[in-house]
Amino acid sequence: MDASLTPDERADLVLKEMTIDEKIQLLHGNGMPQDEPVTSLNAASNRGVGYVAGIERLGIPGIDMSDAAYGVRASGANGRYSTALPANVAAAASWDTEAAFEYGALIGRELRAQGYNMSLGGGVDITREPRNGRTFEYLGEDPVLAGTLVARLIAGTQSQHVIGDIKHYAFNDQESGRSSVDVRISKRAARETDLLAFEIGVTQGHPAAVMCSYNRVNGDFACENKYLLDEVLKKDWQFPGFVLSDWGGTHSDAKASAAGLDNEEPGDFFYSERFKAAVQAGRIPESELDEHVHRILRSEFAAGIVDFPRQRSVVDPLAGLEVARKIEEGGIVLLKNDRAALPLDTGTIHTIAVIGAHADVGMISGGGSAQVDPPGGNAISAPGEGATHWQEEVWFPTSPLKAIQARAPHAVVTYDPGTDANAAAAAAKGADVAIVFAYDWESEGMDLPNLSLPLHQDDLIAQVAAANPHTVVVLETGSPVTMPWVDAPSAILEAWFAGSDGANALGNILFGSVNPSGKLPNTFPKSEADLPHPTLVTPPLASQRFSGPVSPVQRAEGLPPFQVEYDEGLKVGYKWYDAEKKPVLFPFGYGLSYTSYGYSGLTVTQGKTVEATFTVANTGGRAGAETAEVYASLPSAAAEPPKRLVGWSKVKLDAGEKKTVTVEIDPKYLSIFDEEKDGWMLVPGEYTILVGGSSQDLPLRATFSVK
Ligand code: BGC
Repeated sequence: MDASLTPDERADLVLKEMTIDEKIQLLHGNGMPQDEPVTSLNAASNRGVGYVAGIERLGIPGIDMSDAAYGVRASGANGRYSTALPANVAAAASWDTEAAFEYGALIGRELRAQGYNMSLGGGVDITREPRNGRTFEYLGEDPVLAGTLVARLIAGTQSQHVIGDIKHYAFNDQESGRSSVDVRISKRAARETDLLAFEIGVTQGHPAAVMCSYNRVNGDFACENKYLLDEVLKKDWQFPGFVLSDWGGTHSDAKASAAGLDNEEPGDFFYSERFKAAVQAGRIPESELDEHVHRILRSEFAAGIVDFPRQRSVVDPLAGLEVARKIEEGGIVLLKNDRAALPLDTGTIHTIAVIGAHADVGMISGGGSAQVDPPGGNAISAPGEGATHWQEEVWFPTSPLKAIQARAPHAVVTYDPGTDANAAAAAAKGADVAIVFAYDWESEGMDLPNLSLPLHQDDLIAQVAAANPHTVVVLETGSPVTMPWVDAPSAILEAWFAGSDGANALGNILFGSVNPSGKLPNTFPKSEADLPHPTLVTPPLASQRFSGPVSPVQRAEGLPPFQVEYDEGLKVGYKWYDAEKKPVLFPFGYGLSYTSYGYSGLTVTQGKTVEATFTVANTGGRAGAETAEVYASLPSAAAEPPKRLVGWSKVKLDAGEKKTVTVEIDPKYLSIFDEEKDGWMLVPGEYTILVGGSSQDLPLRATFSVK
């Protein structure tokens, strides 16, 4: 308990005292307490999804894990309350590093209040495949944006004495066949895309834990992949914490141990008696066992769960709603606003037709292990139905209709469910404004069949917009969607999965008490035909996924692999559309505001780092916040896509105000990964820095050279 010692020194002191059985006890979980009877090994747990029993004799606490992607999971089931933040992709759309810290801190606070001491959040697989059903849980298609934000999120969570996690390491970029897919990718493309997001997250956010993913990467399962776990994560990035497997993602003892897996979750197929026997037989060196235990112990000390034991308290719902609302306000993206259709002016608008997507009662949320329970149950279920279920649409009781009515108390506000497009068009006709809501639900364990809005919503929007020229479309989606009707409505907002107080955030944007400032963290393509993989690669039937309990032998063998070739290589997201010269619907980094901004005076200086200095001016009549984006084009010898994001600054500006900002560029973000040298290098030649308000609107440019 001598807190003046380092976490490593403290871990070593404990390790010296431990028996082999105590060591093995730390290497595995004890099932999923939420679904299982109480046993001596899980009795002390908080009944979440994972629990590593502590060593009471030595004062080492158990590790009590809960999923916590956008809030603490499944709280309703055990009579607790947690805030649902907007989906992670919405936080990414805010491009706001302080908000990302607040996001993580709220999760840490509520985990601790509920009695947990470890988060299973921190998803950062980049959006290489936008049909991925977990796109809402991740932070977009750019590794620098996603990595920077996840690092702040993790730092926020760990500021609350909770073990933070980053996942799913790595390339779990689609859900279809996630336990059998074998991702094939070159080393260079791997390091510069998905792994760069993890590298930034790990080295800047210092998570105490990394969760390895279900899939294979270049032949080996991620949780027994020596390249990923040992060479890259532990050696190159110097990660000092522990690696735990995704739930059921462990496939061996000796191989996984040698590769660098420290902890099996949620059970103990491999990292228990078999592991002990393997150590005793000399198949696994004792030093390896000690290394795993050391990493787990040092993480407990580093995250503060030993010095600040869990102490339950009461979640503060009002404070949570405020954080959730602010993050959503910063993340909503204004995609279109013809003739200043928004914000709505209550002086001139007397009739409002609200249409579609259960906008009378709630807003949709993302499903799977990320699912946060709404208070009182699903807003679209019958009263008293209560519990939510795996892979069902869960709607939060945050009513856009009520939020709109509250902001336009003198207007007549009607609601039409939008299930019959003709009836909806009739309801819209003649109203001063029609606000049509559309959604696309996403969840872990599935991918979207395509990027079209489901349930005939394209037709609904087209018909409503044809009936009323002042139509505003509000989208609640996790992934980009195609918009065959894009020219018809006068305004379009992307509200994502909007969290516990989404309707108030949306109301504030619609009526202009908050100026939109979100920018897309994912490209919206014109059609799936333009994607690097126009057709999602799905597994042969035999290779779909484990269902029900499987034996260790089956688990070890895994399901028959099928391959997905990431032959687009470096060209992920906007880098693909840029390189292939494919026009898009809405580009990466794009988002409008109720004011306008101007850019001027770029200078680039080269010292230890490269710095871009420029001026952003608010040239309109309203205060706002502009994300100024900085991209670099590398010399042609680098053989890179046309440009990459290297930094940004979100600048708050009053009407008419100007600010000069400097963005420091990490040399790594200007480098390429050289496979021969097995390291990052700057390619000599001329670099161009481009600055502006979207990846396709970059008015400033300046060059510099590297010798
Ligand atoms: C998911 C993880 C999650 C774990 C525990 C897995 O199915 O992929 O993200 O943390 O379950 O619920």
